[in-house]
Amino acid sequence: MANIVIVGTQWGDEGKGKVVDLLAEFADIVVRFQGGNNAGHTLVVKGEKTICHLIPSGTLQGKTCYIGNGVVVDPAVIIQELDYLSNRGIDVGPDKVKISDRAHIILPYHKAVDLARENKKGDKKIGTTGRGIGPCYEDKATRRGIRFVELLDSEVFRERVKSVVEEKNFYLKNYLHSEPLDADPIIDQYARYAERLAPHVTNISVKLGEAIRAGKQILFEGAQGTHLDIDHGTYPYVTSSNTVAGNACCGSGIGPKQITGVKGIVKAYTTRVGGGPFPTELLDETGDTIQKKGAEFGATTGRKRRVGWLDAVILRNAVRLNGLTGLIITKLDVLCGLASLRICTGYEYNGTVLQNFPSDLKALAACRPVYETLPGWSEDISAIRNVGDLPKNAIEYLNRIVELTQVPINIISVGPAREETIIVKNPFL
Ligand code: GDP
Ligand code: IMO
Ligand code: MG
Repeated sequence: MANIVIVGTQWGDEGKGKVVDLLAEFADIVVRFQGGNNAGHTLVVKGEKTICHLIPSGTLQGKTCYIGNGVVVDPAVIIQELDYLSNRGIDVGPDKVKISDRAHIILPYHKAVDLARENKKGDKKIGTTGRGIGPCYEDKATRRGIRFVELLDSEVFRERVKSVVEEKNFYLKNYLHSEPLDADPIIDQYARYAERLAPHVTNISVKLGEAIRAGKQILFEGAQGTHLDIDHGTYPYVTSSNTVAGNACCGSGIGPKQITGVKGIVKAYTTRVGGGPFPTELLDETGDTIQKKGAEFGATTGRKRRVGWLDAVILRNAVRLNGLTGLIITKLDVLCGLASLRICTGYEYNGTVLQNFPSDLKALAACRPVYETLPGWSEDISAIRNVGDLPKNAIEYLNRIVELTQVPINIISVGPAREETIIVKNPFL
């Protein structure tokens, strides 16, 4: 029996969706445990592209999908997603997709505050996805959030929304100079959402406990990436949840000893969407080439992703923070055709070389990446299915990643499609 957590090691968009879809074949249940519809996970199966923002990437494999208590759910978005998948013949009925009764819901005022706050910040903005994620987690922490359990009780819901809207309107009008909201239409609209979603809502922790006792295999799907973690990322340029593997437990309601493996997805180079530090960022032609070849546009907002060289300092950070037991390298195919490749092995700071990621953004801004250069390859590798058939220089690049992280590679992805994959060691077998 294996229960595996998949997390992003960088700043998100490492290819978690593709890998979770691929590995879901071997799991009984796929669980999201944090984030919300700020995530955009892309699956390419039989030539067809599917992007999921909330529903775990196990649906195309016909698996049962759970949304844990740690996720913030926009009811309008999940309904849209259920309809989108169901119209394509995928079973997303209440037996297949279940939502925690303790998951917090995103309300229109969360989005309004998110957008107005970013506006006010001007060039200091975080570059959020504008989906209300931060303000929703903020209400959860200050104990005025609304969970599914409250949404399903119309009296409690009405009372809560009325009191929270009053407070939000004061803030929206007087501080953010933005339009106030009317509580009544929100209450009516969310009553319709409640009716639609009620059959999906349950106690996910209890369900997972039963599944674990029955010996089922569970795949936990992280959203965002380790360096967007609210505690361990490049704060304040982060998202508002813990993205590291430990949160698979808190965000779904299981204990740490139930996890048997933690796999970190590593894009073969680095990308970041939105603001914040990015030591190995490429602002030159090579960056443009990789951005175009990798089609690096956000799956949620469509924004161009910033691109840079692979950074072993952040990878080592991710190894420690998540306790990674294996690496999954994605988008290796994108690097073909570059004469040489660079890997950052440390940060030069005030005459010393830092091996660990600094907490202080001022110090990080003063860091200069120390690079080593490796030879590139020109062969198209997307049809390769055995590691030994990769060009010699691609193998050297992978070996160097293993040396620098001291973690073995389990899977190498060489294209967006499910089958464009080299399995070195299947984490479930
Ligand atoms: P996620 O948020 O981690 O699930 O990643 P996204 O779906 O936002 O972004 C990854 C993008 O890369 C998507 O467009 C995928 O279809 C694509 N992709 C995933 N793996 C590979 C790969 O190995 N090669 C190429 N060329 N594209 C990939
Ligand atoms: P997946 O799961 C990449 C980034 C935003 C912004 C910051 C805060 O697809 O990898 P938020 O809306 O969460 O308050 O925005 O976090 N961000 C992501 N970047 N991939 C994601 O998810 C992201 N989710 C949030 O761009 O910089
Ligand atoms: Mg994404």
